[in-house]
Amino acid sequence: MTKFRGKKVLITGAASGIGRLMAQKIAAKQAHVVLWDINQAGLDTVAEELRTQGRVVSTYAVNLADREAIYAAAEQVKDEVGAIDVLINNAGIVSGQPLLDNPDERIMLTFNVNTLALFWMTKAFLPDMLAQNRGHIVTVASAGGIVGTARLTDYCASKFAAIGFDESLRLELERLHSKVRTTIVCPFYIDTGMFEGVKTRFGFLLPILKPDYVADRIIKTIESNGQRLIMPRFVYANYLVRILPVSVQDFLFGFFGINKSMDDFTGRSGAH
Ligand SMILES: NC(=O)c1ccc[n+]([C@@H]2O[C@H](COP(=O)([O-])OP(=O)(O)OC[C@H]3O[C@@H](n4cnc5c(N)ncnc54)[C@H](OP(=O)(O)O)[C@@H]3O)[C@@H](O)[C@H]2O)c1
Repeated sequence: MTKFRGKKVLITGAASGIGRLMAQKIAAKQAHVVLWDINQAGLDTVAEELRTQGRVVSTYAVNLADREAIYAAAEQVKDEVGAIDVLINNAGIVSGQPLLDNPDERIMLTFNVNTLALFWMTKAFLPDMLAQNRGHIVTVASAGGIVGTARLTDYCASKFAAIGFDESLRLELERLHSKVRTTIVCPFYIDTGMFEGVKTRFGFLLPILKPDYVADRIIKTIESNGQRLIMPRFVYANYLVRILPVSVQDFLFGFFGINKSMDDFTGRSGAH
């Protein structure tokens, strides 16, 4: 069991969405939350709210697309806060454009934030966890890391990579007989604004998830050392569909509306 009380918990993308909700909920469990985001004003708002409630919080404005900035901020955290017990790699971005309309810079940014930052964050904070032989690394990927979708080539590819990162890291830790745990999180669309405009065809099977529900499920999964959280459960059907010919697979994903889910996507205006 990974208990939050008294632990130092670093959450990226904590100024908004499920990162912010997890920060509030985990701080309420008497953890010291260390919040990273590119959005300084958003971080200040969360921190002020938490401090008013008597919570322990530290904030760092960091651009996760900048490897050197990550390593520099990580050193600052180690000096000012100490070793991190739970690292929740949550920050993510989406372009939502067909491949040929998606600028190269945007594709690289998506991989920097959604994928490469996982490497730099984990390289920065895992050594202390290994030294203490305890800790937890959480990767917030997506159901888009399991099933591809039109208009999400960069996003899905970056999240497929995130799942491969988690799986390989977990196996490396097993070879080391380490007690450091990992959790991969793969939610379907969540009503945070990041995917504003998306739609689902069969809401009873593939509902747009509520942020509060998602944050609670992630927290419970970390506390119980769950290695994988896929929600809703219907997403697991993907693994059965994969044994069928690709034409049948694509037909079924199309039937369930997945490949048209991004047709009316607008996203959050002003997002990085
Ligand atoms: N929302 C969904 O439907 C959904 C579904 C499945 C998985 N997920 C995943 O869940 C995670 C959280 O999603 P969410 O919906 O909570 O997103 P969100 O509300 O957009 O929050 C993401 C946070 O990350 C920050 N961020 C963006 N670029 C950054 C950078 N370069 N450096 C540091 N911070 C950066 C954002 O700041 P700005 O707002 O200033 O850009 C924002 O505060 C993401 O990894 C996402 O891919 C989301």
